[in-house]
Amino acid sequence: MAMDTPSPKINEIERRFMELYGSAPTIVVRAPGRVNLIGEHTDYNDGFVFPAAIDRDVLIAASPRPDRQVRAFALNFNQSSTFSLQGVQPATDGRERWSNYLRAMAWIFQEEGMSPQGMNCVVLGDVPLGAGLSSSAAMLVASGLAFAAGLGIEVEGVRLALLAQKAEQQFVGVNVGIMDQFISALGQKDHALLIDTRALTYEAVPLPQSGVSIVIADTNKKRGLVDSEYNTRRAECERAVEILQQFLPGITALRDVSLAEFEQYADRLPEVICRRARHVISEDDRTLRSVTALKAGDIARFGELMNASHESLKNDYQVSCKELDAMVAAARAIEGVYGARMTGAGFGGCTVSLVRTEAVETFLREVPPRYKQATGLNATIYATTASQGAQRIK
Ligand code: GLA
Repeated sequence: MAMDTPSPKINEIERRFMELYGSAPTIVVRAPGRVNLIGEHTDYNDGFVFPAAIDRDVLIAASPRPDRQVRAFALNFNQSSTFSLQGVQPATDGRERWSNYLRAMAWIFQEEGMSPQGMNCVVLGDVPLGAGLSSSAAMLVASGLAFAAGLGIEVEGVRLALLAQKAEQQFVGVNVGIMDQFISALGQKDHALLIDTRALTYEAVPLPQSGVSIVIADTNKKRGLVDSEYNTRRAECERAVEILQQFLPGITALRDVSLAEFEQYADRLPEVICRRARHVISEDDRTLRSVTALKAGDIARFGELMNASHESLKNDYQVSCKELDAMVAAARAIEGVYGARMTGAGFGGCTVSLVRTEAVETFLREVPPRYKQATGLNATIYATTASQGAQRIK
């Protein structure tokens, strides 16, 4: 299997594991973060998304223990956390909050009748936290792989993603869609996945291997409002479906409404609900069209659709913010940028741009000062490549 994680990280985690527990780990797993190229706020509307796994991940090194304790150490926080598999509870000490994802997966395994083994483990990640690149999904999926490895079982990718989503919804308490866990579990090197979030099927679409780069730009604006606004958007979409069902009785989600049908009944929706529905319905359409463009090698068209996605998220879905808009504007001002948009839930976090490879240097040089001038904040830029989804390395 393709191995994306450079061995220095693996050597580092194995070395630290030895130091902490006195023997080599028998298990090493990894799960990547993600960047969504297009298809935003569509996954909880049964729609389409088009993310790629990135070359930053969470690694867990582990060895089973004979008892029902999990002893974990996070190298990033220099912090340990221990819990019992009997009646798993969230961490009470705020410094151990990172362990809630590990706890959540232990909990969901029990819920699903797969009684996990106790283990010693070490966690090492380089997915930036709170930046909208799904460090939490990476942590959940990696934890799930580690518990599965401890039990000597294989959990198939879609199932692993569903377990991670349920764990995040029910144990961590955030009502997320399936995109982040799905791409972390099933991503493919050099491909983005067109995921049908209703059917839970996907198509791996090759990304251009030369001439075009994916550039992520972190606004470094922490995503304060995101959880409450996220839940509000979900409720608004459900309301749109309820109203539209009066005219389109067969629908169960916004995914089922075509753009033409939406136009026909748009004036029956209250203004805010109407905007939310227009975003979701047009975004599904853009996502499918962007994949067609990519397959035809039409990167310029793909970029235009990314730009249109951002405008829709900003004006209709209203999940952007001045920092994201400033970063998008700074990116689009660079010659050789095909398209730029916010990525992930919004209200801060990162943008994603598709950039002619020879223009990446200019991007790195010119975007941060322009962004700083507009916002007073420093931008962090990462050029990334699509990486393999979660894997057991050892
Ligand atoms: C977050 C959620 C995803 C998805 C995006 C918005 O990342 O975890 O499920 O809804 O927001 O597209």
